[in-house]
Amino acid sequence: MQLLQLKIVVATPSRNLLQIPVETFILALAIPQFMESMIWTEKYRPNDFSEIMGQDEIVARAKAFVKKGNMPHLLLAGPPGVGKTTLSLVIAKQLYRDEWRRNILELNASSERGIDVIRNTVKDFARTKSIGDVPFKICLLDEADSLTKEAQQALRRTMENYTATCRFILLANYSSKIIEPIQSRCAVFRFKPLGKAQLLRIIDKIAVNEKIKVDEKGKNAIMEVSEGDCRRLENVMQSCAAVSDSITEETVYSVASAAKPKEIKEVIALALGNRFTEARNKLLETMLNHGLAGLDIIKHIQNEVLSLDIESRKKMRLIESCGEIEFRMSEGADEFVQLEALLSRFAIVGEKS
Ligand SMILES: Nc1ncnc2c1ncn2[C@@H]1O[C@H](COP(=O)(O)OP(=O)(O)O)[C@@H](O)[C@H]1O
Ligand SMILES: [Mg+2]
Repeated sequence: MQLLQLKIVVATPSRNLLQIPVETFILALAIPQFMESMIWTEKYRPNDFSEIMGQDEIVARAKAFVKKGNMPHLLLAGPPGVGKTTLSLVIAKQLYRDEWRRNILELNASSERGIDVIRNTVKDFARTKSIGDVPFKICLLDEADSLTKEAQQALRRTMENYTATCRFILLANYSSKIIEPIQSRCAVFRFKPLGKAQLLRIIDKIAVNEKIKVDEKGKNAIMEVSEGDCRRLENVMQSCAAVSDSITEETVYSVASAAKPKEIKEVIALALGNRFTEARNKLLETMLNHGLAGLDIIKHIQNEVLSLDIESRKKMRLIESCGEIEFRMSEGADEFVQLEALLSRFAIVGEKS
């Protein structure tokens, strides 16, 4: 069968783009299990506590709940792609074994239309008995921090009413956005971004399994663009592997459409050295080559400023400018005009010695 060259682009929520050949995609639509194994974030989702990297204390406590066959409501807080959903699913898999799918209800607070839908769906789910020996079911509510305060009050009442038959696992990026009465009813677990050693283990495992080569610089690039987010890491690797079975720094940055730090460093060095026009041209070229938006660029520049070898007062002044420009851009100001203003600020700071 001849593979079409066409690529279809599937957006994963607010993150990287995953590229899958169109024929595989159509086949995948027909067979859900196939789709699961196609997407690496699902294919490499841990099924057992022992496969979850980092988060050791959290995993130990979750294991103890499963062993006892009982658990409180849980609030899992932390950045994206660190194992919150994964841990919840492992708890369900270990607790209910073969019947896990029938004992868990997964809802997304930000996409379900309002708390009434949640309440009714939860009520219907919790009303029927759990299947197997465990006397309660699990309701997994993702993005719980996107619920309004009023909706959270309603959720709190639902949690109370159905405690006997249903335990809630709430997932959130920020626990501070969850109202106090809910927090106090939950065991709160705070997830950390994965460290370098853990990310490397995941990269190596996938590379071996998928028979792809990743050189040292390629690995560093993958870690840099994924910023401790495993989902992003796996998506970037899969996108790279679709292009070539040997992953280098270049493939990573082109796929992740992030500018190479080297290019941003050059722009900054030119600006600080008062070579404004060259800095401006280099910046424009970098933005066009990588299809970067102004806000992405600001993030990169700010990142690089931190590691510049200059006086700390100057550094502070530059960081302050980045913040100001970022704000103006997010308010809708012209991106390139703002970036030019930033570069001229760099030139002025660089001049004063
Ligand atoms: N701690 C971890 N150990 C191993 N793999 C992980 C870990 N965290 C995330 N992953 C990988 O990233 C994917 C997404 O993780 P997920 O648990 O859904 O993140 P979130 O914290 O956003 O809920 C998982 O399917 C898994 O492949
Ligand atoms: Mg999740």
